[in-house]
Amino acid sequence: MIDPHEKTSRPARTTDEPANGMMPPPIRRITLDSQPTVALPPSQDAVAIANTGDRSLAAAGRPTRGVAGPERMTISDLSVYYGDNHAVKHVSLPIRQGEVLALIGPSGCGKTTLLRTLNRLTELTGTARREGLITLDGTDIDSLEVTEHRRRVSMVFQQPNPFPMSVFDNVAYALREQGAKRPKKKVLEPYVVDALQRAGLYDEVSSNLDHPALRLSGGQQQRLCIARALAARPEVLLMDEPCSALDPKSTNVIEELIVELRKELAIVIVTHNLQQAYRVGDHVAFMYLGDLVEYGPTDDLFDNPKAARTRDYIGGAFG
Ligand SMILES: Nc1ncnc2c1ncn2[C@@H]1O[C@H](COP(=O)(O)OP(=O)(O)OP(=O)(O)O)[C@@H](O)[C@H]1O
Ligand SMILES: [Mg+2]
Repeated sequence: MIDPHEKTSRPARTTDEPANGMMPPPIRRITLDSQPTVALPPSQDAVAIANTGDRSLAAAGRPTRGVAGPERMTISDLSVYYGDNHAVKHVSLPIRQGEVLALIGPSGCGKTTLLRTLNRLTELTGTARREGLITLDGTDIDSLEVTEHRRRVSMVFQQPNPFPMSVFDNVAYALREQGAKRPKKKVLEPYVVDALQRAGLYDEVSSNLDHPALRLSGGQQQRLCIARALAARPEVLLMDEPCSALDPKSTNVIEELIVELRKELAIVIVTHNLQQAYRVGDHVAFMYLGDLVEYGPTDDLFDNPKAARTRDYIGGAFG
């Protein structure tokens, strides 16, 4: 601590001093008000923080991890090609209820392709070809009716994409599609309210459910899209960088929602944000150029990555 009452003193002039009259700066005496603290070796959390460069992890502490339930989807030796481009290479992964699987990796490594393949959207791309097996509750997804499959395995995209209709109608959309007869608004209302509540949006929109969805903020639109997905009662929720267009506050709301939802769903989230993967992921899969380089429990992967490429990626050597 600097003592404000301490007098400064000038050292005696020596012959080495410049002759142009420039004096060296005055020496100030500094008194310490306590003994210096001895630094202890870093904890595992500190190592994780150093690896990810995120100091907020220290303040937040270690997140509580989900409890893995039954394996809902199984990916076995999956390859996806776009023409000659082998975009996903022989990937095998389990997707379990009760936990969040975070997919990380640099741009173009096949994360979105993998997610879209789980939702059977890749087959809409003319040049795409798939090999390997994906099952939902043990059944080959190719043998399931595709609309029903997409209801059970629902997807939320990077850019919020609400329909140009009211908040209510956005959430009711899937319910109306599912019913043989078009149900009345009064019948749908409790389901719409429930989905909005589960998506953490209800309090912000309850005063006017007829409000146009496109006039909501970006964070609200993304939660509306999550509510729309939840209204269809999916069993697996796929989220492709759901927070990349959002501010930190909206991101926080959605992360809390993801952690809450994992109790009832299996969730896969693609994220470029390593801190987000650490905060919400129970397992992490690191992909690089289409390969699944490493997969493991989040704390293990961040504290003790096995592959050199994973270490470099989470250490920030490449993005
Ligand atoms: N519709 C498509 N048609 C042809 N090639 C595609 C298509 N979509 C993706 N690809 C190619 O497949 C590879 C993987 O792309 P993908 O979008 O899955 O990567 P990503 O990991 O999600 O990247 P990002 O982090 O930038 O979103 C890339 O080489 C990409 O150019
Ligand atoms: Mg992508």
